[in-house]
Amino acid sequence: MHTLSFVRRAAEMAEQAHLDFLFRADSLFLNPQALASSPGFSSTDPTVQLAALAAVTERIGLVTTASSTFYDPYLLARQLMSLHWMSEGRAGWNLVTSLDGAENFSQQSMPTAEARYDRAESFLQLVRQLWETYPAEAVTVDRQAGRYADPGLIRSMPEPLGEFDVAGPLTVPQHPAGSPPIFQAGASERGREFAAVHADAVFASAPTLQEAAGLRAELRARAERAGRTPEAVRLLPGLVLVLAETAEQAQDIHEAGKEPISDSARIARLSRVIGADLSDLELAQRIPESVLQKISQTPRSRTHQQLVLRLIRAEQPTLRELLRSPVGSPSAHWQVVGTPAQAATEIGRWQDAGAIDGVVALPSGSWRSVELFCREVIPQLVAEGRFRSDYTGTTLADHLGLHLPREPGADRR
Ligand SMILES: Cc1cc2nc3c(=O)[nH]c(=O)nc-3n(C[C@H](O)[C@H](O)[C@H](O)COP(=O)(O)O)c2cc1C
Repeated sequence: MHTLSFVRRAAEMAEQAHLDFLFRADSLFLNPQALASSPGFSSTDPTVQLAALAAVTERIGLVTTASSTFYDPYLLARQLMSLHWMSEGRAGWNLVTSLDGAENFSQQSMPTAEARYDRAESFLQLVRQLWETYPAEAVTVDRQAGRYADPGLIRSMPEPLGEFDVAGPLTVPQHPAGSPPIFQAGASERGREFAAVHADAVFASAPTLQEAAGLRAELRARAERAGRTPEAVRLLPGLVLVLAETAEQAQDIHEAGKEPISDSARIARLSRVIGADLSDLELAQRIPESVLQKISQTPRSRTHQQLVLRLIRAEQPTLRELLRSPVGSPSAHWQVVGTPAQAATEIGRWQDAGAIDGVVALPSGSWRSVELFCREVIPQLVAEGRFRSDYTGTTLADHLGLHLPREPGADRR
């Protein structure tokens, strides 16, 4: 699964379905215990993998994940612009602040979530400034006059930003298509504000339609308050798809693919997510208010903790129901287990309810899910007029519709 041939097959199918982009999440931390039953977070570097895929695809976007907590901004600005060149304007950056990995970067512990967002603010601004230091128009290449570029068009960097003091310019010019679009993941109060002000798209965990609709409405309102149009920020929840020809087959694949861990291990994991001990509760018991009073104010992931708490408050599930629901899984994503027709219907229902701008499809369980998503779900969405039947542009910004219409206040970003 770490070879190019493995991912190339999926990339080609996705491109034949005219999907906007390939998306690679990433972790800079590996738990050896998790490897016993699954690949866990084993993976090749996403930007290197997408650069290889750039050479064997033509139109599909390539969105890589990079952590503003651990990367160096100059190196990352250069890598992303390089991917943009290698793919002729198809690169995108999913900016994450990360939950783990400090020990791999000579740090004693993870900085607080707020400190990570503080760094993310200056990091993103710096990367954007670096991309502009060497504008595409500076390169004139006039052999007769013996000129390569116009040094007068190279921009110097403004003042130091936050903890960063980077002189620039970048060694690679900006691609004529502009800079890579920005994706973001992390939906705490601070994460939502960050996304609303800076991001073109948000990769979210939204296990229910209500959750997605609420998040989308909030992001749009916050974007407007920040001087952008509501459409400037697109909500793309993760959608885990376990697909088969019949609903029963899909259910069987889903059951067979379930994590082989005990209920007590699941309870321990959920306890860590909300930051309160659930181990004394019976499976048939609802979560008492006394437990909710004791939850951690500094959980590992505020996004995941709040998803669980909102579900408890809205539906009062038993502990068993909570463990079986998507929020009981590590990713807390929306899930569809069924036929391609059922998946297309669900996507249409969420779209009609104004809950999503698209999805980050996560076909799971078997290769068949990838094939059925690309060859049956997408054609059904095209037939219903919900998705385009061919690419209308060549860059990721084109696929996302970023050029139309120009948002007011873009210069404030
Ligand atoms: C849907 C989703 C996907 C994420 N993907 C990644 C990832 O691929 N790599 C990573 O290091 N962190 C990832 N994160 C972690 C976030 O970047 C962030 O650090 C975390 O959610 C804490 O932010 P918060 O305080 O806003 O909850 C993800 C978070 C969410 C909600």
